[in-house]
Amino acid sequence: MRPFLIAPSILSADFARLGDDVKAVLDAGADVVHFDVMDNHYVPNLTIGPMVCKALRDYGITADIDVHLMVKPVDRIVPDFAKAGASIITFHPEASEHIDRTLQLIKESGCKAGLVFNPATPLHYLDHVMDKLDVILLMSVNPGFGGQSFIPSTLDKLRQVRERIDASGFDIRLEVDGGVKVDNIAEIAAAGADMFVAGSAIFGKPDYKAVVDEMRVELAK
Ligand code: DX5
Ligand code: ZN
Repeated sequence: MRPFLIAPSILSADFARLGDDVKAVLDAGADVVHFDVMDNHYVPNLTIGPMVCKALRDYGITADIDVHLMVKPVDRIVPDFAKAGASIITFHPEASEHIDRTLQLIKESGCKAGLVFNPATPLHYLDHVMDKLDVILLMSVNPGFGGQSFIPSTLDKLRQVRERIDASGFDIRLEVDGGVKVDNIAEIAAAGADMFVAGSAIFGKPDYKAVVDEMRVELAK
């Protein structure tokens, strides 16, 4: 498996001083910025859009920005995020009328593309698109809010997806999002994940580096 990536979710960052907070978490050793986009329609919460992504780029953030779209419809916002500096764009397949078209749109915009599965979303959406995926993101909570508890059945789903990725031979990251903490990250990695979103576990502590270091120790076990 490739090197593990730690992706802090900025949903739990301090929005009043976002640029500094994102810089701090990257300086603490995090790899990727996880950027949660909520529209108060697909999910019952409202967050940030392309302007904020561009503002982070203008502020000097050079790390990959992993845009997790929890919006419906999906397509109209994709080019705006690509222009704003997104590196990866993932979306929920049930929020797109034409999944293959949305994946193509993301790729044509110059970004990596991925599908996101809620805890109860079936994996059959993978059936005809494995060759177009750079990332598969499994939600381990229901989307919409930070600070929820990891849903244990995600571990079995992770194992299933890991088998599908390995059998496919494609180069696809397996990302997990929701309730990831120092005390469960090793078990999640053992189930097959190689990219870990963590919001409250990192931003909820004063010393980001201590948390990221503890996660890396757990991942090395
Ligand atoms: C939830 C978001 C997550 C969330 C994770 O809809 O997609 O990225 O911020 O937060 P924690 O790590 O606190 O569960
Ligand atoms: Zn997310």
